[in-house]
Amino acid sequence: MTAERTIRVSLQGHAYDITVRPGLHADAGAKLRALSKAAKAVVITDSNIPAATVSAMVTSLAAAGFAATVATVPAGEEHKSVEHVLKLYDQILPLRIDRHTPIVALGGGVIGDMTGFVAATILRGVPFVQCPTTLLSMVDASVGGKTGVNHTVGKNLIGAFHQPIAVLVDPNVLKTLPQRELRGGLAECIKHDLIRDAEGFANLEKDIGRALAVDIKYLTELVAHNVAIKARVVEADPFERGERAHLNFGHTFGHAIESISKYSYSHGESVALGMVAATRLGVLLDLLSEADERRIRNVITAAGLPIDGLKLDRNQVVDSMAFDKKVAGGKIRFVLLDGIGKAVVRDDVPVALVREAVESLV
Ligand SMILES: NC(=O)c1ccc[n+]([C@@H]2O[C@H](COP(=O)([O-])OP(=O)(O)OC[C@H]3O[C@@H](n4cnc5c(N)ncnc54)[C@H](O)[C@@H]3O)[C@@H](O)[C@H]2O)c1
Ligand SMILES: [Zn+2]
Repeated sequence: MTAERTIRVSLQGHAYDITVRPGLHADAGAKLRALSKAAKAVVITDSNIPAATVSAMVTSLAAAGFAATVATVPAGEEHKSVEHVLKLYDQILPLRIDRHTPIVALGGGVIGDMTGFVAATILRGVPFVQCPTTLLSMVDASVGGKTGVNHTVGKNLIGAFHQPIAVLVDPNVLKTLPQRELRGGLAECIKHDLIRDAEGFANLEKDIGRALAVDIKYLTELVAHNVAIKARVVEADPFERGERAHLNFGHTFGHAIESISKYSYSHGESVALGMVAATRLGVLLDLLSEADERRIRNVITAAGLPIDGLKLDRNQVVDSMAFDKKVAGGKIRFVLLDGIGKAVVRDDVPVALVREAVESLV
């Protein structure tokens, strides 16, 4: 049996555990009971989460004495909206929940973000538990307390910081996750090691193929390793005023690619290309060697993610970055690598080099 891993997240005034173990969701009720005396619980999930995953959660909650109600949102980013938040209030408020009733997010980042926002706002805030079911939400979205929904003006523009009381990660649920979603999560794992952990990156070079083969033992270690990296970054900068910006490595280019492609490149694919471009920029600025660049490109390729073949208007990509929200004082801020494992922020990058980095993706 794979051992349970616990990563403590300590924030001012609030600390909680992220627990990772195959099979953990069978014990979710007991874990929650240790934190809550509530009689009821609400589970929010989406229409793609396998029925067996949802019923296992409800059974576990019931065994621990929680009368659980399930609210299901249609799957997909387009449903991460204020409209669906209102529908969730309509479903949850008649249940006569109280300030202690926990709300459990059982799904990917869409469900985690939206559930967290519902939990932050309903009755002025109720306890919230993350049970992430995608690799991306395990290693990224469920860590850090950012919650919210999209608006037609842009993504994630409405939200709140609301930390969960627990994050329960059961890597077994990844067995049903589509491969493209798995690869998307790997993009964020690669990012984490590139900005913080050279040794972790060397491990990816050896083993990343095991993730695509859905080797649960390996995925358990990978998730625990990545949760720890993200948790440390969030602890150092809970409200995103400083070093948390390092998590945007690859995302300035990536967001431009994602939006110009009208999301035909997934987030993970866009970030992969974004990391390739940001890596090139690092080489052009003499921060990174070409040997390191080769290693980075090889790992991204081994994760089944793209490193070139960009079929978008390059000028449009460069122009759209100027509108990205990470623009500070008219200058584009780039997170770059000063060697593998070390991120730096630069706002003095000549636009000609940015253009050259985008050209390298063709
Ligand atoms: N709060 C944060 O800090 C943060 C960080 C990163 C991303 N996000 C947000 O996360 C969202 C993306 O999350 P995501 O990539 O998990 O997408 P997602 O929640 O849309 O899930 C991807 C797809 O996989 C399906 N799915 C989920 N788990 C499954 C399983 N175990 N088996 C089969 N199918 C499953 C979902 O129904 C969905 O169709 C975005 O809205 C993004 O803004 C938030
Ligand atoms: Zn991302």
